[in-house]
Amino acid sequence: MDILSSFLASFFVLYSLVISLPLTYGQLVPAMFIFGDSVVDVGNNNQLATIIKANFPPYGRDFFNHRPTGRFTNGKLATDFVAEALSFTSYQPAYLSRQARGRNLLIGANFASASSGYLDATANLYHTVPLSRQLNNYKEYQGRVVGILGAANATSLFSSGIYLISAGSSDFVQNYYVNPLLHNTYTPEQFTNILMQNYEKFIEDLYGLGARRIGVTALPPIGCLPAAITLFGSGNDECVTRLNHDAVSFNTKLNSTSQRLQNRLSDLKLVVLDIYQPLYDIVTNPTQHGFSEARRGCCGTGLVETSILCNPFSSPTCTNASEYVFWDSFHPSEAANQILSDGLINAGLGLIS
Ligand SMILES: *[C@@H]1O[C@H](CO)[C@@H](O)[C@H](O)[C@H]1NC(C)=O
Ligand SMILES: *[C@@H]1O[C@H](CO)[C@@H](O)[C@H](O)[C@H]1NC(C)=O
Ligand SMILES: *[C@@H]1O[C@H](CO)[C@@H](O)[C@H](O)[C@H]1NC(C)=O
Repeated sequence: MDILSSFLASFFVLYSLVISLPLTYGQLVPAMFIFGDSVVDVGNNNQLATIIKANFPPYGRDFFNHRPTGRFTNGKLATDFVAEALSFTSYQPAYLSRQARGRNLLIGANFASASSGYLDATANLYHTVPLSRQLNNYKEYQGRVVGILGAANATSLFSSGIYLISAGSSDFVQNYYVNPLLHNTYTPEQFTNILMQNYEKFIEDLYGLGARRIGVTALPPIGCLPAAITLFGSGNDECVTRLNHDAVSFNTKLNSTSQRLQNRLSDLKLVVLDIYQPLYDIVTNPTQHGFSEARRGCCGTGLVETSILCNPFSSPTCTNASEYVFWDSFHPSEAANQILSDGLINAGLGLIS
């Protein structure tokens, strides 16, 4: 294991050197495209008429200039660390923001929207942008880039860029478990199958638009999110086994579906990025990873607050978020995101090799 990770690490250093010399070798990863929910939203929801936002303090407290951006954490997201590791000198702009214009678009863009998911109905509940519409925005993006680069150069940007998808948590936590119309109608397995059909369609469509290097994150241990323990833990102060079981079963299907897609679509590199195990390890063994608190988020009581419930008026926050696995009751702190990003970077190497 150690040999493997040091091999990957040195391999990666090599790649960073190559990537930082674009004029000599050509940039291996010219662009990154990000789709999904609040785990990766960098401010698209700021532009929407939704209450699901994070563009006010204390969000962003530990970000550059201590600025809230719409990221649902105190600092950087895991994908921000990935962008840095890939030698991007700025982060992919939120597609719905004013920064997403002109040559800023040439390093890719972020289409993610908090409280969205594979299921359109999840986003519709919160007036956010479901994956299906994130894809429409990506199509529009492609047209704009063709206008800047011309069709030939744009096509190579689309096929050599990396695509990251992180969704599914909101479909379960903010929809299935709290929505009787769904949980009285479908078993978790059946609900997962519906999400899988949408996932499969999403990948096929993305592939049809020229994507060839795609990473998709597995579900985290949703039963260990502080809010999930509070709401669904029946008073026990431990990870909710039932919810984690659903996540594992989703992840197994995500793996087999992805394997089938990869076999069927020629030239496609599709990897599943496992964040379940790393986050589970951190939550169940926080001190080993340098954390002192894994049950409560840093913001507010840490038991239920997220978005507008984590705010400068009613939410006292902890002094040092690096001691906390979770920033609010749903979202990892920057310190936890950094650990999670290691796994994403290592697994993502397969996409650019
Ligand atoms: C397209 O790529 C070629 C070769 O890399 C480059 O010389 C040319 O300037 C590019 N065109 C545009 C419009 O950027
Ligand atoms: C899915 O695949 C990943 C990467 O190959 C692996 O780490 C993970 O354990 C698999 N997960 C499941 C639930 O099979
Ligand atoms: C915050 O906590 C982290 C992790 O325990 C620690 O490394 C760091 O020194 C702390 N920072 C301050 C300012 O106390």
